[in-house]
Amino acid sequence: MNTLALVNQKGGCGKTTAAINLAGALAERGRRVLLVDLDPQAHATLGLGCAPCDEPTLMEVLLGEVSVEGAVFDAPGGIHLLPATSDLSEFEDISARLMHAESALATALETAVSAPAGRPFDDVVLDCPPRVDGILARNALRAADTAVLVVETGAFALQGAVQAIGVLDEVADGIGEAAFDLKVLGTMFDRRTRFARELLIALHARFGPAMFDTVIRTSVRLREAAAHGKPVQILDPACRASGDFAALAEEWVAHVESDAHRLVVGPRA
Ligand SMILES: Nc1ncnc2c1ncn2[C@@H]1O[C@H](COP(=O)(O)OP(=O)(O)O)[C@@H](O)[C@H]1O
Ligand SMILES: [Mg+2]
Repeated sequence: MNTLALVNQKGGCGKTTAAINLAGALAERGRRVLLVDLDPQAHATLGLGCAPCDEPTLMEVLLGEVSVEGAVFDAPGGIHLLPATSDLSEFEDISARLMHAESALATALETAVSAPAGRPFDDVVLDCPPRVDGILARNALRAADTAVLVVETGAFALQGAVQAIGVLDEVADGIGEAAFDLKVLGTMFDRRTRFARELLIALHARFGPAMFDTVIRTSVRLREAAAHGKPVQILDPACRASGDFAALAEEWVAHVESDAHRLVVGPRA
């Protein structure tokens, strides 16, 4: 099981869009994919047309009241979704009274299996809230093998990314041995602007092999897909956004199948 957490303390940089559509592209390749919505804003949940009322959600899973399978929702595109509601914002307060609150998600995922096959998931995609140092993001980073820093290729992106890596480094130090690899994904790329092209070169220079070669371009289709509650592959399989996420999924699978990926963020020797 390969677990990646999409992170950045900046809101609106494309984390949730990447989470939904990477999950969709991986599912399209026939992989068993679990998408976990760790944001009380529940954008991944809403973006897949799911609106839990009385059903259990991630909150009950974190509290140990139900298993992952007990709360999974079959979302469009073959994605298994562990949804969130705004109640999730209460986990921060509740967690103060729990033992091992930071490992709640990792513990729940250890035994998670996908229906109907009853086999472990191939990939688990964690959509994080903007706060990287809160209890929910800490749960995600403890559960993740890879943190994917999502960087909008706009103004101050490089400064923002360097700052985010500083925060990730601190969290990784807190976790210790079982910390995570780092990958960086450029999003909302507009090739027509020289600024964006130069920024992409700067990101490659700064992050080297940690950068995904695939960049997610700006596409109105991604906004439309979210509004329709579907991953973009279902809305329009031939559009360029579907192509970008198919390429990202291919790169991710190649990455997890090679073992040449080791550590940019993690415990120092
Ligand atoms: N590649 C893209 N092209 C066009 N719009 C995008 C793209 N990625 C994200 N968006 C839009 O930008 C907004 C913020 O994206 P979102 O994925 O919700 O960011 P985050 O989860 O980081 O807050 C949303 O309205 C989303 O539809
Ligand atoms: Mg989001």
